[in-house]
Amino acid sequence: MPPAAGKAEQVRAMFTRIAGRYDLMNSLMTGGRHHAWRRAAAAAVAEAPEGPALDLATGTGDLALALRAASPRRPVVAADFSEAMLRRARVKCVARNEGQVALLAADALALPFRDATFACVTSAFLLRNLADLPGGLAEMRRVTAPGGRVAALEITRPRVPGWDAAFGLYFNRVVPLVGAVVAHDRSAYTYLPRSVERFVTPAELAALMRAAGLRDVAWRRLGLGTIALHVGTA
Ligand SMILES: C[S@@+](CC[C@H](N)C(=O)[O-])C[C@H]1O[C@@H](n2cnc3c(N)ncnc32)[C@H](O)[C@@H]1O
Repeated sequence: MPPAAGKAEQVRAMFTRIAGRYDLMNSLMTGGRHHAWRRAAAAAVAEAPEGPALDLATGTGDLALALRAASPRRPVVAADFSEAMLRRARVKCVARNEGQVALLAADALALPFRDATFACVTSAFLLRNLADLPGGLAEMRRVTAPGGRVAALEITRPRVPGWDAAFGLYFNRVVPLVGAVVAHDRSAYTYLPRSVERFVTPAELAALMRAAGLRDVAWRRLGLGTIALHVGTA
């Protein structure tokens, strides 16, 4: 997938294609652990000042729902540029009788919100899909109120000798196969490990967050070192 102008359209088309199998694939690939990582992201912004949260690239809405569970008094806006993913999120919110998640079609690179609208902004597994990573971080920072929190979850290579090789084998060989069989989309689940391989390291992402104007940026690894959770203050 080319990294420049056409990337956004290709990413949108890909998630639209796999929306129906997205949750099942996440559970299969992670053995169900992905919910715990989103809970950690929601907990990381729970101390943000009073005010609404924005979950960017909400997909099927799991992090938006985790934010509601972590901070029941905080309304959540959940945005994504794939209508198909948003439809899944809507079904989930209705099934849980969750009326405080407002779902919205929006592009993370051009958010339809005024500066400083949100007390906290989150994203899970968005950043490596962006055509313009510094631009996306700048938008997250722009719509966060001063003192508010920004948190981002991303997949990362564990970089522990032995374990990194085993994870690479699983991610590059097994995941595309499971994607072909379960989601009927080998290319989407080949793009997944490749996009992780091409993405910046956690330390580089922290530096980019600081360059976007966030302060007190910190990150830690979850999921046996395969997930990075970054948090910063606007
Ligand atoms: C890997 S999924 C993550 C979904 C969800 N956050 C989760 O935790 O499962 C990536 C999501 O990012 C969305 N996305 C990618 N680029 C986007 C952009 N520029 N603006 C809005 N959404 C975007 C896709 O439509 C997709 O739903």
